[in-house]
Amino acid sequence: MKEQIIQDLKELYQDKPDRLGHIFGVLEQAKKLGKKYDLDIKKIELIALLHDYTKYYSKKQNEKIIKEHYDNANYILKNYNENILHAFSAPIVIQEKYGITDDEILQAIMHHTVGKPNMSLLEKVIFISDYTEPNRSYESCKEVREILKESIDKAVYTAINDSINLFEEKNHHIPKIAYEARDYYKRKLEDSMDKLKMIIDNLDTLNLKDIYVYDMKDRSPFYDYFIISSATSNRQLNAATRNITKDLKDDDSKLTVEGKNSDSWVLIDTGDIIINVFKEENREYYNLEKMFIDIPKVNQKNL
Ligand SMILES: [Fe+2]
Ligand SMILES: [Fe+2]
Repeated sequence: MKEQIIQDLKELYQDKPDRLGHIFGVLEQAKKLGKKYDLDIKKIELIALLHDYTKYYSKKQNEKIIKEHYDNANYILKNYNENILHAFSAPIVIQEKYGITDDEILQAIMHHTVGKPNMSLLEKVIFISDYTEPNRSYESCKEVREILKESIDKAVYTAINDSINLFEEKNHHIPKIAYEARDYYKRKLEDSMDKLKMIIDNLDTLNLKDIYVYDMKDRSPFYDYFIISSATSNRQLNAATRNITKDLKDDDSKLTVEGKNSDSWVLIDTGDIIINVFKEENREYYNLEKMFIDIPKVNQKNL
C-alpha cells in the first residue's frame, strides 16, 4: 500500500513540489521520532504520507465531505478555519480510497494541525513532526527542534504557544481546542516540576542519602524522572514511602508501590516519576547507577 500511496502522492502533487517535499520531510522526522519512542513505524509512515492528502481540496470540497460525514459538522465549520479543514476531510478520503480504518491513524491525522489536550504519543509525534520537519526553517521551528531533544511535551507546548502568538498577532481565528491544548501542556509541565520538587523535599527532610535524579525525558516517552536514594534504616525507608505516597495519593490515581513492606528496596511509580528508595547495602548490590551512567542528572539546587 505504501508504494501505491507514494505513487498517488507524486501524481497528486506533481505541480506542488514543496508540498511533496514537506510530506517526505514529515515522513523522515516522524520515522526518526517513532524509532526513538519505539512506535509502530508502518503506522507512522502511513500517517505521515497521508496527513495532508486533502490539503489542496477547495474549501467547498472539504465542507461537503465534513457535512456528509461528521455529526458535529456545524461545529467544525464554525470553529476551524479553511486551512485546517483538510485535517477533517483527509481521514474520510483515505478510508474510502485505501480502506484505512485504524482509528489511531485517523485520529493522528485529524489532530496534526492544532493539536489537542492529552494527545497519544503517536499523535504528538505526528503533530511535532509536521512542525519540525527538516524543510521548515522559521525561528520557532528551529527552537522547537532543539527542545524536542529534551522533551516532547515541552516541544508540543512551545509549538502550540508560538503558533497561537503568531496567529493572534495576525488577527487570525484560533480554534478553542488550541488554547485548551496549550493550557493542558503548560499545566502538565508545571505539575511535573511541582511533583518532583515535593518528592525531593520529602527525601531531603528525612535525610535520605545520595539522592540522584535522572532526567529521562529524552530517553523514555513513559516517564520523565528516575530517582535513586538510600535509606540507612528500615524506619527511614518506611517513612520515605509513607510520606511520598501520602502526599501523592490525593491527586495521582496512577500511583503504584512495589516492595512496600520490604526492608531492602521500595519502588514508587507515580506515572511520570519513578522513585527508588534502597537500603544502602542493597543499592550497592543492584548498582542501578551503572546503567544510568550516560543519562543527565537534574541539578536539585535549581528546583
Ligand atoms: Fe496539514
Ligand atoms: Fe503537513
